[in-house]
Amino acid sequence: MIEKIKQAAREAGQMMIKAHDFNVHSKGSAANYVSDIDIAVEKFLRQRLGEICPDADFMGEESDFTNSGKDKVWIVDPIDGTANFVRGMNMSAVSIALSDNDGILYGVVYDPYIDRMFYAHRGHGAYMNGEKIHVSDRDTEHSIISIAMSVYKKEYAPPCFKLAERIMMQCEDIRRVGSAAIELCNLAAGKIEMFFEARLYPWDYAAASLFITEAGGYISSMDQELSFNSVISIIAANTKENFELLKGEALECFDGIEII
Ligand code: IPD
Ligand code: CA
Ligand code: CA
Repeated sequence: MIEKIKQAAREAGQMMIKAHDFNVHSKGSAANYVSDIDIAVEKFLRQRLGEICPDADFMGEESDFTNSGKDKVWIVDPIDGTANFVRGMNMSAVSIALSDNDGILYGVVYDPYIDRMFYAHRGHGAYMNGEKIHVSDRDTEHSIISIAMSVYKKEYAPPCFKLAERIMMQCEDIRRVGSAAIELCNLAAGKIEMFFEARLYPWDYAAASLFITEAGGYISSMDQELSFNSVISIIAANTKENFELLKGEALECFDGIEII
């Protein structure tokens, strides 16, 4: 199964790399883009993944959720990092997860620009291009955090900046790739130590969440267990210590603010 999903991700990545002259539209807010390629890649994956496991519903960013109550669900972001993609920044990835009643069973994230394939089968470890990955053991002082500023709902930006300032004073540095999937993969692979985003959809984090748990890290929402059916905040870290620190600071910065 995992090899077939990886192959589908690889082909989807080729569609991204070869794409030129495509149309771009805004959806919802001015900063929220969708291109013809997002839609074409999702159409391709919907078809291919349906052949790989027909007994699964399909939740993708660019199409309606076919929810017929099946135990398994494909959770797909055809291009995570669309704003980077439409600007030609070469920092985007394909994200595919298959969930069942116990969470995420398979996850694949493929960055075609650097040919980096992350994948995991629950209970069997997480891998990057054939090498087993593990979170780092860096302490807070030597940690890097990826933190986003709630680009699509700017009313949450002030508490995000407050959190960024508080964590910055305690850790080493801050990064922002612009693809939550890649940022979470970087955490799973020991390249960064903490991650926070106020508002993410399941297709942004489903696959990468499995890499984090399989690689020994911690991930949940700020105020609830990890789930894969609604928009939630995401907190992730390499160690319990960093996780509890980030969660405590986030809860203080977002005190009284509901994420919707
Ligand atoms: C976005 C990226 C970005 C994150 C946004 C996501 P998209 O996904 O993951 O890093 O900050 O919240 O929506 O729109 O490029 O698929
Ligand atoms: Ca996304
Ligand atoms: Ca997307």
